[in-house]
Amino acid sequence: MSAAPVILDCDPGHDDAIAILLALASPEIELLGVTTVCGNQTLEKTTANAIRVLDHVGRADLPVAAGALRPLMRESAVAPDVHGESGLDGPDLPAPTRGPSGEHAIDWMASVVAGSSAPVTLVATGPLTNVALFLARHPEPARALERIVLMGGAIGEGNVTPAAEFNIWADPEAARRVFSSGIDLTMVGLDVTHRALMTAAHAKRLAASGAAGRLVADLHGFYSRFHRARYGWDGAPVHDAVALAHAVDATLLETKRCGVRIDTGPELSRGRTYVDVWGSAGWRPSCHVATGIDAERTLELLLTRISALG
Ligand code: RIB
Ligand code: CA
Repeated sequence: MSAAPVILDCDPGHDDAIAILLALASPEIELLGVTTVCGNQTLEKTTANAIRVLDHVGRADLPVAAGALRPLMRESAVAPDVHGESGLDGPDLPAPTRGPSGEHAIDWMASVVAGSSAPVTLVATGPLTNVALFLARHPEPARALERIVLMGGAIGEGNVTPAAEFNIWADPEAARRVFSSGIDLTMVGLDVTHRALMTAAHAKRLAASGAAGRLVADLHGFYSRFHRARYGWDGAPVHDAVALAHAVDATLLETKRCGVRIDTGPELSRGRTYVDVWGSAGWRPSCHVATGIDAERTLELLLTRISALG
């Protein structure tokens, strides 16, 4: 079966970085390029981080295009408490060897999607600002997408507020546009990603496997501290790698088609993903919502693929 073309829109970010490496290590997908958005850190930092990760595994050839400097309407709110001042604290990665493409991310997306011989899957693991702008500015190529697989939202409680998960909370207006686009959409939320925890034992296995594994082990070293302090967990949720893994192997997650509405209101409910799991609201079930995960197989895929990346 030929590799499925994928664009990864992200805000590296520790778990975004792991998703980039998993994409490079998975023959089921062909990573066409990486687009970056403000989220975990400023656009400058998330873009530099994406390039630093690609440099580390010898992929300075892979296109990186920078996107939105800030959310559509809300103020930027970076997450140094989770990802550090650099957005990728922990590993000692050199400065990026190059800058991003001269094209804006959404224009680069449009040209790549239009030029692809097979429909492109867009995996989004940051706030959805770039995706919303892409849909607005380039509706034709957007409609040609195979599907959008996004890490974001939650059926249950959030992680930034009790109501909301960070990627949706950061730009709820963008999320509303994406969730109402009619494009085939899969939502990989906290309900499943909080069950995919990378532990110190996983990190130890990776550290012994090669440069990519050592990078992930160093990322884990920093990233796991926040989750131990906040949740008391022995592991760190590899949120974004779970969304990318779904594009690699759809059997890892259970999904249910549900209607999903986004709260773009004031602070208390801002960014809430209202998931009509039981159809009680009668909303059009337009989104595949992840409801279950084989966490052990997901982590095993992650470890074996990244270990093999060398
Ligand atoms: O809530 C988790 C999400 O927010 C992940 O994508 C993480 O990288 C941050 O962007
Ligand atoms: Ca992210």
